[in-house]
Amino acid sequence: MNTRPVISPDDIDAIDLADARLHAEYDLSEVWRHLRAHRPVYWHTPRESRPGFWVVSRYADAMTVYRGKDRFTTEGGNALATILTGGDSASGTMLAVTDGQRHAQIRNILMRAFSPRMLDEIKQALKVTVDRLLVEAIEKGPCDYAHDVSGNVPLGAICDLLAIPREDRRHLLDLTSHAWSSDYADAPYEDSWTAKNEILLYFSDLATTRRDGKHDDVVSLLASSRIDGEHLTDAELMANCYGLMIGGDETGRHAITGGLLALMENPDQWAALKKGEVDMSTAVEEVLRWTHPSLHGGRTVTGDVSIGGERFATGDAVSVWISSANFDGEVFADPDRFDLNRSPNKHLTFAFGSHFCLGHYLARLEIEAVLDGLQRLVADIEPLGPAQPIYSSILSGLQSLPVRLVPEPGATAAS
Ligand code: HEM
Repeated sequence: MNTRPVISPDDIDAIDLADARLHAEYDLSEVWRHLRAHRPVYWHTPRESRPGFWVVSRYADAMTVYRGKDRFTTEGGNALATILTGGDSASGTMLAVTDGQRHAQIRNILMRAFSPRMLDEIKQALKVTVDRLLVEAIEKGPCDYAHDVSGNVPLGAICDLLAIPREDRRHLLDLTSHAWSSDYADAPYEDSWTAKNEILLYFSDLATTRRDGKHDDVVSLLASSRIDGEHLTDAELMANCYGLMIGGDETGRHAITGGLLALMENPDQWAALKKGEVDMSTAVEEVLRWTHPSLHGGRTVTGDVSIGGERFATGDAVSVWISSANFDGEVFADPDRFDLNRSPNKHLTFAFGSHFCLGHYLARLEIEAVLDGLQRLVADIEPLGPAQPIYSSILSGLQSLPVRLVPEPGATAAS
């Protein structure tokens, strides 16, 4: 079902890895294989008005960058889209683009809300939600799995944690869909800028109603917590609510949709899941490795450093390609095989080091709930049309996956 044209390694110097259209419309697996083998740390020359940047494609080198918090910063942005265009406006306030002591202090506050102990409380609710979405999709007949199922799972979970009123949720989903990626190849930059600002304003209004300490959701946690006796600034509050929304919604959606596509493209693995021949938590890891919703992470060099024999200078932009590292044959046996029983599976889907994904446990719970629901409630998955990719150089995923979910006779949904 993957019918995207494969780009030949001969074209490496002509392609633009910061171009959203490239990732949506072409298969880069040969390019990554070639880079890992022959040019693992590669200087991507400037294109049009954009500066050049380093491309790190091997797992071991990616780990060196993620571990090197003294030599690399996120404060100039954590993806090429921001690093190459003058930085991230949330730098120094939002966790993902803040380093040093302030990062550790804000992260410590949020870790309380995202710990397995806290999140296990929502496990059953998640299962009920996922089952309901699957049953509704089954009853609909032809459905768009990306919209009808995946679109609602992470959004529902994160909105519950932030206690976002139900009537605002659909609007927020539309905004987050436009903040980091687009359904169109030529979406104007203003679309994403406007969406980001609307989300920030929404949280600014919401936070003012949560400072009274009478609620126990994550917005209230941020609004009422103190660091060295001081509340978080308004900018920190807004940026971190935004960060949770954007970090927790779209990535999870793409893992869930991509997971279904992988099961359709690998009928032996679907059969193994159906027969109960896979361990669910092991299967979740393979869905994460395979779908890698974050294509790359970005850093700016803060002190001279060499990786893979190449010398980086202070101020250089560095991109670490999860889409390549997760398929590195030095680390993963038979990396191009989707294998739900793969173990060990130390993928970099949630990155590594000080910025390791705060929501990893929640994301894992969501994917497990979906795999479990599919296994119990769905007998078969029929493709009804081509999958449509999103357009992004930051994220990888599908905006549409038309299918029919055939019901498992006699199965009942969790309630
Ligand atoms: C950080 C991926 C789900 C919140 C990250 C990073 C990656 C990532 C790669 C590191 C970025 C970097 O190193 O520059 C994913 C994927 C997810 C997912 C693939 C789903 C499959 C979530 C969820 C939440 C979340 C559910 C919260 C509700 C965050 C936050 C950070 C982060 C706040 C910044 C952490 C820090 O800088 O200390 N995520 N994420 N993510 N993620 Fe996730």
